[in-house]
Amino acid sequence: MYDFDEIIDRHGTGTEKYADLQMMFGTQDVLPLWVADMDFKTPDFVYEAIRKRMEHPILSYTSIPDDYFPTISSWMEWLHGWKVDPGDIRYMPGLVKAQAFVLNYFLQKGDRIIIQPPVYHRFAQIPRTNGFETVSNPLLRIEDEDGFLDHYEMNFDELENLIDDSTKLLILCNPHNPSGRAWDRATLERLAEIVTRHNLLVLSDEINAETVFYGKRHIPFASVSPEAAACTITMMAPSKTFNIAGIVSSYIVIQNPALRDKFFQWLDENSFDLPSIFAIEATMACYKKGAAWRDEVLRYIEGNIDYVDGRIRAELPRIRGVRPQASPTIWLDCTKLGYTQPELMHNLLYEAKVAFNDGTQFGPEGAGYLRMNIAGPRSVLGEAIDLLKASGKF
Ligand SMILES: Cc1ncc(COP(=O)(O)O)c(C=O)c1O
Repeated sequence: MYDFDEIIDRHGTGTEKYADLQMMFGTQDVLPLWVADMDFKTPDFVYEAIRKRMEHPILSYTSIPDDYFPTISSWMEWLHGWKVDPGDIRYMPGLVKAQAFVLNYFLQKGDRIIIQPPVYHRFAQIPRTNGFETVSNPLLRIEDEDGFLDHYEMNFDELENLIDDSTKLLILCNPHNPSGRAWDRATLERLAEIVTRHNLLVLSDEINAETVFYGKRHIPFASVSPEAAACTITMMAPSKTFNIAGIVSSYIVIQNPALRDKFFQWLDENSFDLPSIFAIEATMACYKKGAAWRDEVLRYIEGNIDYVDGRIRAELPRIRGVRPQASPTIWLDCTKLGYTQPELMHNLLYEAKVAFNDGTQFGPEGAGYLRMNIAGPRSVLGEAIDLLKASGKF
């Protein structure tokens, strides 16, 4: 049993959630529930593995151990039912960098990229930074019986309309950040059919694949059909589930040799695929010893979803949170409050004194929304709701 109720002081550790408050929000006098990491302890087995390696007096050049890729592939087969040859996996120093590598390697200037906002802001920013054009195919807002956002669906008709000869790649967020939707098989199959017919590559960001709630199983996009496997580059990591983002350990999966071989050679020749000693140790510890811890943390977060959703429905009826199927954040629909986005953020930061992500960080389609991180002690989430309530603005 782990104590997820424990409040851990992260000040003085460079924690982004605190250190970047001023830069992101212009104030530090707020309860920070924004960056998508956990306020729970990184599990013991990760520390034990790193400590054990630290006992050796030399921390120099280290080859990837023979069981590193097989360990990742066994974990994926066990957890997602997805069979991947260990040779189809390469280490990546984070998903954001992996995205930049893929775009720069596979695309030419002038090629267009489709994204489906509201979505993780890097899907727009990395292409922009690297001189590629993105085209938005906004998700469809499906309402519940009270007129709040219930869930998003992909707009396939518009997707077909948007694709032209210069469209080369679609970036998929599976599961979807910020709404927490775990895309179902029918959606992924239909997407696979469309991208295959138009000869598009799919870069599938599956960083939240392991943080799936209520016994649901994550469906890797590449697993839905041989055609999907042939056009997909998948990015995954243990970083979100086991709270080890600071270690920088991710990986990429490519099953089609025509996409894989030269790209892997390019990664190798540039040393982009070389993990640090600690990345190796941490990933292996998570995937060999982490199943029970993962189970416990997911149950605790499910309790947080019930708690936050229950309190919002009972005490803040003018807003509503989308219950996530995956990823420990709640996408708050504040559209009924009638505020402009600057007013919404002002009321959040200066009246309630809480920091959630600004919905428009995920694209203009996020106007009227906030993203609340719920991967922390329940008492802190309760404090955030108390503050929203006391402000009288929500
Ligand atoms: C969907 C998504 N992809 C990627 C990242 C960042 O990945 P990394 O830290 O591995 O670069 C995040 C972080 O919040 C995310 O939400």
